[in-house]
Amino acid sequence: MSKFGTIHRRSLDQMAGFWAEAAADIHWDKPWDKVLDESKAPFYRWFTGGQLNTCYNALDRHVENGRGDQAALIYDSPITGSQQTRSYKALRDETARFAGVLVENGVGKGDRVIIYMPMVPETIVAMLACARIGAVHSVVFGGFASNELATRIDDAQPCAIISASCGIEPSRVVAYKPLLDKAIDLARHKPECCIILQRSQETAALMDGRDIDWTDAVAAAVPQDCVSVDATDPLYILYTSGTTGEPKGIVRDHGGHAVALNWTMQNIYDVKPGEVYWAASDVGWIVGHSYIVYAPLLHGNTTVIFEGKPVGTPDPGAFWRVVAEHKVACMFTAPTAIRAIKQQDPAGEFARQYDLSHLRSLFLAGERCDPPTLAWVEEILGVPVIDHWWQTETGWAIASNCLGIETLPIKAGSTARATPGWDVQILDSDGHEMAPGEVGAIACRLPLPPGTLPGLWRANDRYKHAYLDRFPGFYETGDAGYIDEDGYIFVMARTDDIINVAGHRLSTGAMEEVLAAHPDVAECAVVGVADELKGQIPIGCVVLKAGVDRLPEAIVGEVIQMIRDQIGPVATFKKAVVVSRLPKTRSGKILRGTMQRIADCEDYRMPATIEDPDVLGEIRASLQSIGYASQ
Ligand code: COA
Ligand code: AMP
Repeated sequence: MSKFGTIHRRSLDQMAGFWAEAAADIHWDKPWDKVLDESKAPFYRWFTGGQLNTCYNALDRHVENGRGDQAALIYDSPITGSQQTRSYKALRDETARFAGVLVENGVGKGDRVIIYMPMVPETIVAMLACARIGAVHSVVFGGFASNELATRIDDAQPCAIISASCGIEPSRVVAYKPLLDKAIDLARHKPECCIILQRSQETAALMDGRDIDWTDAVAAAVPQDCVSVDATDPLYILYTSGTTGEPKGIVRDHGGHAVALNWTMQNIYDVKPGEVYWAASDVGWIVGHSYIVYAPLLHGNTTVIFEGKPVGTPDPGAFWRVVAEHKVACMFTAPTAIRAIKQQDPAGEFARQYDLSHLRSLFLAGERCDPPTLAWVEEILGVPVIDHWWQTETGWAIASNCLGIETLPIKAGSTARATPGWDVQILDSDGHEMAPGEVGAIACRLPLPPGTLPGLWRANDRYKHAYLDRFPGFYETGDAGYIDEDGYIFVMARTDDIINVAGHRLSTGAMEEVLAAHPDVAECAVVGVADELKGQIPIGCVVLKAGVDRLPEAIVGEVIQMIRDQIGPVATFKKAVVVSRLPKTRSGKILRGTMQRIADCEDYRMPATIEDPDVLGEIRASLQSIGYASQ
């Protein structure tokens, strides 16, 4: 058996021993009683009885072990033309002080804090400060609208919200404070205070008695030490799209998370403490949580927070400049970002302007990487490009080429083999394991390894129903695909209504809920169609209520604006069309899959249960009117 095969086998056969060994690289205030606690299966817990502090492990420990002067965090912001570097010691001190602000304002162990911030170092300080005092953070991506923020406020019930006056997009300054104020108005739950970072690009008006200026509060704060928390206590909640408008609050614990993420840095990404690691994502997504913040800092690396875009800030060389300037050893981004660069610089001329000799690998995730994009970036960088597969729920890669263990041959279109800790199977609709090459539901045998979701925030039934009930003994990933003869996993599609827009996970069901609320709309369907740059984008078909005689274009304009206002610009919902009816089965189920294939000009089989086949011709004509369904 190969070295990788041996380690993978051991991770499944001797699960407790395998992860106990990895846990030795983390500082524990109190050792665990049990590595894997199966007493409440299918709810598994890792390292029960153990106590630790994630912030201590990410900052203080490195200062005490001689890394105090090493850069912990580089802020590179082409969009504001600024750069800053914080050493481990400086980041620890700043975090301890900001933890003092939280404590001063009544935040304590177990309290929730929502963080709605742009890509600035203070966002990371806020996250780590929560971890330092045992508070539970919930970061909300800045591209979400007030309505989405309000839903999260009501679910997490934070005592404090941390935000900034604005975020900066290439085309505009996004005033965050009015969005925050509106969200608090919409929410039933009201936070006791809001701590606002004022940025020079736009100053926010502060509300007396509720809003606190970040800088003033920090100046007066008393630094706080780390508090011990249980390994099983929640570190954060990260909301992600579910199959309804209600997002799922994915919970992450302290102990398993610290152990697993630290382990991945050496074994998957093959980086050593002290090296520079850069995930070009947003802190508001899981990739940002795991690989801008926690994993690199737990492992003693230098991490980069980049406030910019792959193109336009100022040119398609932005990523390569950052790699060269900061001597990045390993980089991580989404395929959509590479496609954006490729579109503007097909010959890779910008990459050639920079010294990329420190870069040893590029990892991609968030959506399937199309083989031409993989080949293009491999060619221009001359390093292994690794497509790896994971989810907000799992917190780290389910399948990847593990460069720190053994580099396996790269097969374009595949995310390589299940990583250690993961037993991945392809199941048919009855839950039977399928043969190599057969496409089915991708499921992972329980228990999942440490660092994965122990449940949903205060919604254990929903957790069980959404992930565990369909295939007893397995976690249902919601992805479909196959495993080949060599054990390589090919992730092909979602089995639910989730789409991936520029690497951002969105629910078409949630968009339909918004459209259905328009007073003139009787019913609607939103499907994800192929997009050269963003992978997928949503388009909508709406049927109007009988008697509505307003101009269809006016209604289309209104529903587009509704999605932007209620979900956010990140949904990229720019096209919709009024249709006279939707294709349905005889039992009334809308044939969204068939609509998507018509829009993308893919072959499709006429569904046997279709109510009226003629409707498909009408849908094709409507889709053609908005630029789809024609070769
Ligand atoms: N705050 C406010 N608005 C935001 C935002 C934020 N943090 N992030 C994005 N938006 C807005 C954008 O301004 C844009 O608005 P517009 O419709 O007015 O133009 C909209 O949301 C869509 O943004 P985006 O998806 O970023 O599209 P883009 O056209 O600006 O850029 C890419 C396209 C491919 C360059 C960009 O999507 C990208 O870099 N993607 C990488 C994604 C990624 O890292 N994913 C994480 C998984 S690894
Ligand atoms: P998120 O929770 O936002 O990380 O999105 C997770 C989903 O993105 C997965 O369930 C997949 O559908 C998709 N995904 C992520 N990485 C990959 C990949 N490398 N290949 C194919 N799909 C991916």
